[in-house]
Amino acid sequence: MAAVALATILPVAHAQAAPPTTAEVTKTWLADCAVCHGRDGRGTFRAPSLEGRGAATVDYELTTGRMPLPATASSTAKVKRHKPAYDAATITALTDYVTTLTGGGPAIPSVDLTHADVAKGGEQFRLQCAACHAWAGDGGALLHREAPALHASTPVQVAEAVRVGPGVMPAFGQAALDDQQLADVVAYVRYLDKPKDRGGNSLWHLGPMPEGAVAWVLGIGFLLLVTAWIGEREPKA
Ligand code: HEC
Ligand code: HEC
Repeated sequence: MAAVALATILPVAHAQAAPPTTAEVTKTWLADCAVCHGRDGRGTFRAPSLEGRGAATVDYELTTGRMPLPATASSTAKVKRHKPAYDAATITALTDYVTTLTGGGPAIPSVDLTHADVAKGGEQFRLQCAACHAWAGDGGALLHREAPALHASTPVQVAEAVRVGPGVMPAFGQAALDDQQLADVVAYVRYLDKPKDRGGNSLWHLGPMPEGAVAWVLGIGFLLLVTAWIGEREPKA
């Protein structure tokens, strides 16, 4: 038992101690990724080619824990956010390795929020993102859209998703959102996640009017239900 426990603890401690060597990274790639993406990263029947997808895509997939998909995953398995499988140093090294192997592509975007305008970000968000991620960034379940909630996303992950368009999400280039507008949107997504602003209050982003309106609709709906119920209970003439 003790030996098993040690074996599970040791590799982790080791990985955090120092950035992995090229040999170690190669080994990780071959063991954890190549089975699906191919040794050369050009794809197999199990996974797409990573050619030209760049550091932005690889870093997004690894830091959101979407990759590596478990080797036992079915071909129709949904790719979801998880705790990352690797520590930060390994993610950086693996990202460099994969990017070099598959011929570059978009770099990890740098996000400077110093001059970001949350209000303008909100406008862009409602225009370009809310149809899938919902007004408050809670995800598309209620809209019957396959888009995740954004509350766990870091600023860099938001920028990466916007620029590379992971999965079925479209990519937004400079024409759709220039760097300033991207910073605004990132600031807005982070703002959506302010703890004070969560829980029961997320409709606030629509402004006080719609929230009142929703209360109205719900209230009237409830009254109608009660009326219908009472009506049904009336003795028949
Ligand atoms: C079990 C198979 C499997 C394994 C193992 C796997 N992947 Fe994937 N990977 C996939 C599939 C399937 C997709 C496409 C998912 C989608 O369309 O949302 C994908 C998508 C990706 C993408 C996004 C590609 C794009 O064009 O947007 C990256 C980057 C990636 N994988 C990197 C990795 C790395 C790095 C590893 C190893 C740490 C890895 N994957 C392990 C199956 C796998
Ligand atoms: C057509 C629907 C659609 C639109 C429009 C869209 N997204 Fe997405 N978005 C998705 C889907 C689907 C995913 C999951 C992708 C994957 O498989 O990794 C996603 C993923 C994300 C993620 C990663 C969430 C995480 O787990 O950390 C972020 C951040 C994000 N989107 C932000 C945006 C922003 C900002 C916009 C507007 C500029 C936007 N999205 C527009 C569908 C959409």
